[in-house]
Amino acid sequence: MLVASTRPEVIKLAPVLRAFERLGVEHTFVTTGQHYDDELFWRFIRELELKEPEYNIDVRSGTHAYQTARALEELERLIQRDAPEVVIAEGDTNSVLSTALACAKLLVAFAHVEAGLRSFDRTMPEEVNRVLADHVSTVLFAPTLRAADNLVNEGILPESIFVVGNTIVDATLHHIEIARRRLKPKGGEYLLLTLHRAENVDSRERFEGILRALAEVEQEILFPVHPRTMQRLREFGLMELAESSLTLLPPAGYLEFLLMLEGAKAVLTDSGGVQEEAIVLGTPCITLRTSTERPETVEAGGNILAGVDRESILRVVRRVLTDEELYLRMKQAKNPFGDGRSGERIAKILLELGERGKLRIEPPSKVIRTRQRRLIHAGEHRGRKLSELGVRVCRVALEGRFRYPEPERVLRGDEMLEVEEEVSW
Ligand code: UD1
Ligand code: UDP
Repeated sequence: MLVASTRPEVIKLAPVLRAFERLGVEHTFVTTGQHYDDELFWRFIRELELKEPEYNIDVRSGTHAYQTARALEELERLIQRDAPEVVIAEGDTNSVLSTALACAKLLVAFAHVEAGLRSFDRTMPEEVNRVLADHVSTVLFAPTLRAADNLVNEGILPESIFVVGNTIVDATLHHIEIARRRLKPKGGEYLLLTLHRAENVDSRERFEGILRALAEVEQEILFPVHPRTMQRLREFGLMELAESSLTLLPPAGYLEFLLMLEGAKAVLTDSGGVQEEAIVLGTPCITLRTSTERPETVEAGGNILAGVDRESILRVVRRVLTDEELYLRMKQAKNPFGDGRSGERIAKILLELGERGKLRIEPPSKVIRTRQRRLIHAGEHRGRKLSELGVRVCRVALEGRFRYPEPERVLRGDEMLEVEEEVSW
């Protein structure tokens, strides 16, 4: 069972759905209905040529508690009825938390796509959802080694983690081709803006500060507006300010958005997915936030965290637009999210785990012993592969850095190994 309930989830799970179809994997497609308008959900189903979901829980909007609880209750019923071998969801929305929890309580395997992302800011609702979902997952598909590291650092067992890249690369590369063939690029010089994070648009003061900063930027700014953001513009009386300095547009379709992003001089955003797509398409990205769960994009040089106050936003935007060397470096930053074959990889790993019986969750039949983690020196294991040691290695520390324990890594002998053992009474 695959659950995708919001715009980014449909986009990022489409490559997995397609791989299921190619490989003949029997599956059902469920939406909780968290996004329900045509412009945020249904048009993406059509544009990405996906089958319609078999079940729509039709949760719609409400408080976090309402959305999570309502989806949880219905998902429990659906999962019990259909008895899927594994349930798959992507990302960090309330719908994903409900899906993960429903599975954990029913002892049904849950596979989390885009596991291990951390902004380390627990005031973001998404951070809470990510952490909780990861900790009840059976299989964790981390997009990068860094994300895998975050998981291991939190005590998650390495054998349940698979580093597969991010399916956004599959989606972007596939659909930009189609967009280039079907649509005409906008042309001219412009910046692209997206804003929808609760932290940015639900506070009048912060939202106004961002708009005032952008009003001082001389370039044209295209702004496809998320419905949450449109509601706040009206509620806070900020419509006039926005309209006077930005080109307000309805939310764009995927093909149209990718083409706008590719053609933009730079993108200003608080979106997660847009930070990733920008580096895939070579568009410099300025992130209007104080933290990011995609630090790989910043490290690669394609993204700058501009913060949320007026001065810092203006400083960063002006620098990116005037410092040619910096601009070129940002444009040429290398995509850190893999080769665009993540969907296929995820489907194949799930098939293989299923065949090996690793998706069955059964209560222990014997008295459980306790588990203990400790550090050992790799000295006497020099020249051996991690997979040959016969102990569960959680982390490898070498030259002051922890590394993800790739099973094929050959030990030099000077590493410290963090191992986890079962201890008998
Ligand atoms: C949600 C996710 C966020 C994700 C975003 C993707 C959570 C906590 N938030 O935020 O992580 O980045 O989706 O876009 O899960 N609305 C409509 N039509 C719709 C859906 C929503 O008009 O089809 C409006 C409603 O006024 C609603 C508001 O948007 O109150 C917010 O919707 P909601 O799903 O709660 O959160 P998002 O801001 O979309
Ligand atoms: N997107 C779109 N039209 C828009 C804005 C965004 O198709 O007007 C796409 C964008 O290409 C990306 C995804 O929506 O793939 C990002 O969704 P969003 O920013 O809503 O959520 P987040 O990624 O922050 O969770």
